[in-house]
Amino acid sequence: MLNEIERLKKEKDAVILAHYYVNDEVQEIADYIGDSYYLAKVVKTVDAKTIVFCGVSFMGESAKILNPDKTVLMPDMSADCPMAHMAEIEKIGEMRKRYDDLAVVCYINSTAELKCHSDVCVTSSNAVKIVKALPNKNIFFIPDENLGRHVAQQVPEKNIILNDGFCHVHVSVTADNVKAIKAKYPAAAVLAHPECKKEVLDLADYIGSTSGIIDYASASSDTEFIICTESGVGYKLKEQNPDKKFYFAGTKHFCPNMKLNTVEKVLEVLKTGANEVHVSDEVRIKSLKPLDRMLELAK
Ligand code: 13P
Ligand code: SF4
Repeated sequence: MLNEIERLKKEKDAVILAHYYVNDEVQEIADYIGDSYYLAKVVKTVDAKTIVFCGVSFMGESAKILNPDKTVLMPDMSADCPMAHMAEIEKIGEMRKRYDDLAVVCYINSTAELKCHSDVCVTSSNAVKIVKALPNKNIFFIPDENLGRHVAQQVPEKNIILNDGFCHVHVSVTADNVKAIKAKYPAAAVLAHPECKKEVLDLADYIGSTSGIIDYASASSDTEFIICTESGVGYKLKEQNPDKKFYFAGTKHFCPNMKLNTVEKVLEVLKTGANEVHVSDEVRIKSLKPLDRMLELAK
């Protein structure tokens, strides 16, 4: 199967992009693996005609918006991020009426429709930098409440209004889960993704995106880590740090949508060209603005 994928990649002029949360076997065959920010940058630079995006729908959609000349294929069209839908256009309108200088800051984990109504996108690795750089005092941060709260703590000079969206994978990790592992391995450093609840972030030695967590663990002289994010990062963590120990907090830290990406489905879309991502011109033009602004401000 792997030879066939390689052959088809050449024949179709395709590259495979994968988020760190997909299955190990899919990460193994990917040409580019990374967090959401890295992947958004990569789609702007790849030469290939076709991008097979192993992630969830907002990622494939963003790839098409950022680089509309490419054919973007998703191994499984039903791989969707529930949090991407957890904000309301009407509420954005209400907030804009209430605050003259409002900036709507939209986590990239959102539908293209929500992006159309936003001023700038962010990812978990650049949200603090971008919010700090905005001239606006009042910020409506959508959809993720936990990332929004984390940003608010780092940027106290702004009035950050939170929305009640959440990632079910990250909020499944509890402070008790972390404390129980810490009791067993007291020397282990706690590394947490900012989509985790405040009670978990309060216990963290480091808070960052998936790439941030991997880079921190790899650069650290510590040898044991408690990881508070999705299980898929274990693949890179172990590959880069075979002698270090990683303990994942929680029992439900698996994103079922990310796990819908399989090697078989990658082969299938390469063969058939099925599952192509389409975005209407109107939505693409409107949602490109906040994405481009993110790439500019995050530089
Ligand atoms: P990052 O890729 O920014 O770490 O975000 C994690 C995530 O939840 C992607 O779905
Ligand atoms: Fe969405 Fe959470 Fe899955 Fe990321 S891990 S795709 S935020 S549900």
